[in-house]
Amino acid sequence: MTQDLINGSTDMARPVDVVIMAAGKGTRMKSRLPKVLHLLAGRALVRHVLDTASQLSARRVVVITGHGATEVEAELSISTGDTAGFDLRFVRQEPQLGTGHAVQQALPALADDGIVVVLSGDVPLTAADTLRRLIEACGGDKLALLTIDFADPTGYGRIVRQGDAVQAIVEQKDASAEQRAIREIYSGIMAVPAARLKAWLARLGNDNAQGEYYLTDIVKFAVADGVGVVAHKIADPVQVAGVNSPVQLAELERAFQLRQARQFMEQGVRLADPARFDVRGDLRCAQDVAIDVNCVFEGQVSLGEGVRIGANCVIANAAIAANAVIHPFTHIDGEQAGVTVGEGALVGPFARLRPGAQLGAEVHIGNFVEVKNSTLAKGAKANHLAYLGDATVGERVNYGAGSITANYDGAFKHRTVIEADVHVGSNCVLVAPVTLGAGGTVGGGSTITQDTPAGMLSVARGRQVSIANWQRPRK
Ligand code: UD1
Ligand code: MG
Repeated sequence: MTQDLINGSTDMARPVDVVIMAAGKGTRMKSRLPKVLHLLAGRALVRHVLDTASQLSARRVVVITGHGATEVEAELSISTGDTAGFDLRFVRQEPQLGTGHAVQQALPALADDGIVVVLSGDVPLTAADTLRRLIEACGGDKLALLTIDFADPTGYGRIVRQGDAVQAIVEQKDASAEQRAIREIYSGIMAVPAARLKAWLARLGNDNAQGEYYLTDIVKFAVADGVGVVAHKIADPVQVAGVNSPVQLAELERAFQLRQARQFMEQGVRLADPARFDVRGDLRCAQDVAIDVNCVFEGQVSLGEGVRIGANCVIANAAIAANAVIHPFTHIDGEQAGVTVGEGALVGPFARLRPGAQLGAEVHIGNFVEVKNSTLAKGAKANHLAYLGDATVGERVNYGAGSITANYDGAFKHRTVIEADVHVGSNCVLVAPVTLGAGGTVGGGSTITQDTPAGMLSVARGRQVSIANWQRPRK
């Protein structure tokens, strides 16, 4: 550590290194899962934090793990693309002796020339802009604390000031009655020059009510060293809200979803009720999209112009083209392969589209119809109670109620090809591999095991017989 680093500089272009504290147990979640792996909007809490860090163009991100360390490290090691661009390191804290002790474990991974931003793995919704301002407030030579006024500050570290100048952070359990009345609290987030942080953490003791090494004690050292301490105070409680219990997790989920809903409505999306709308992933909407109540969107979903989504639909990993209508209670899950719904298609109510379902324009999929890994060309219809798996369906095909593709022989999947303009009657079993020739008709109740010729009627079922004078059994 060189003297000029200790003295600091106002160079704003200093590299940013992020420390995410995620070693705590989260006792109040009463869960086997480490707290930071609980989901908010479908993603682990700590992953939200990591994504925010990625928006800061951080040079390095050091995650401090402890409770459930292997699980937390495994989750964060899955690359999602948006977390690329920085060097991710894990540091274990065993045992957990407090937030100051936690950051001490990260010091060997932190270069002296950076600004260190300390975040908590259980505070998921801090805006990157807020952190940029905090970094600006630090300016490379000051200690910057993110603070907020709470009507009820119970449990938080209080910001003790003399006049305007910040003097200390006093933890709830160490605070005097007078200090407990202070409403400005420390959010748990700070930006601090790395060289200063190292020097101060070396002086940390644990002589306090909890016998812990408090990161917050560095404020006193900064004041003693004549280093500026700035409080960057924000007004939005959601950005500093931590998750400690299932109740807080649900509250934050609702706050997050309501924010998303507002943003969509500002873009012109018509939501029947913003309080009954959940996006757990990335939803893109073109103009004039209308979404009824209780819909859940997961993964990557895009809705084209004029798309209407009925009530109670769950839609994951799907691209729905312009003017398609998804009627109520439809479940679409494209998983990895994705689902596509063509322009003007009608799906549902009570339809199920599974991975690899590719519906062309104006396709109709009605109630209790399941489609998996199948392509339906323009205008094809399966309106009631049917299964299409591993099928290629031509234009204008009409697929009758109760018909299924028997695509699985117990070991392998096989394809069914239904050429253009075929009519498949009701209650047919198409035993794959099989091809139904263009324009043909399959009589209701047929079990088709061989290819059918184009243009002909194919029937494969027992002939109807009627027996005269037949007697029913009698008692
Ligand atoms: C901390 C702050 C308090 C602030 C509050 C905001 C300290 C001493 N106090 O208190 O001023 O108002 O956050 O929420 O810093 N952790 C570890 N290792 C440990 C202890 C904690 O990794 O040994 C992690 C936790 O997993 C959590 C974060 O650090 O992500 C904060 O720890 P927590 O115990 O919640 O601190 P608080 O007592 O809430
Ligand atoms: Mg806490």
